[in-house]
Amino acid sequence: MLTETIEKALNEQIKIEASSSQVYLSMASWAEIQGFEGVSSFMYAHSDEERMHMLKLVKFVNERGGHARVSTLEAPPAKFGSFKEMFQTLFDHEVMVSSKINDLVDITLKEKDYATHNFLQWYVAEQIEEEALARTILDKINLIGDDKGGLYLFDNDVKLLVTNEEPV
Ligand code: FEO
Repeated sequence: MLTETIEKALNEQIKIEASSSQVYLSMASWAEIQGFEGVSSFMYAHSDEERMHMLKLVKFVNERGGHARVSTLEAPPAKFGSFKEMFQTLFDHEVMVSSKINDLVDITLKEKDYATHNFLQWYVAEQIEEEALARTILDKINLIGDDKGGLYLFDNDVKLLVTNEEPV
């Protein structure tokens, strides 16, 4: 059984994962209308992953006797400046999510909820991967800058990341 504090904290995380999915969906759409197929595929896949992160939490909360809530979300931006700025936003977003997961883990220890603590370890590991992936992409785009030919190659590179990503 979840305590009220844990249920509330997990519901907040459900909202964060849902809004992450929305942000990446908007990035996918923005990349797609500019013809960057690789970047948009990557963002569509990433948006799906965030939805999966959200669903996993929804199921867990309900299985443990709580009530998972679906919240209103703020619309994400429709445009992201340059791809460099967009991937910086993605990286910063993932760092923020990691810190929220850490806070959650901290709460489970304070509440002595070891089942939820154990469940959250999957998210801890996932955030390490997500941050590393975002950092790799950011390093690539920082090398390229705003060079058109470079961006074309970058788009192809990112497309490969989608096909190589392990199913979760
Ligand atoms: Fe679900 Fe990218 O954090």
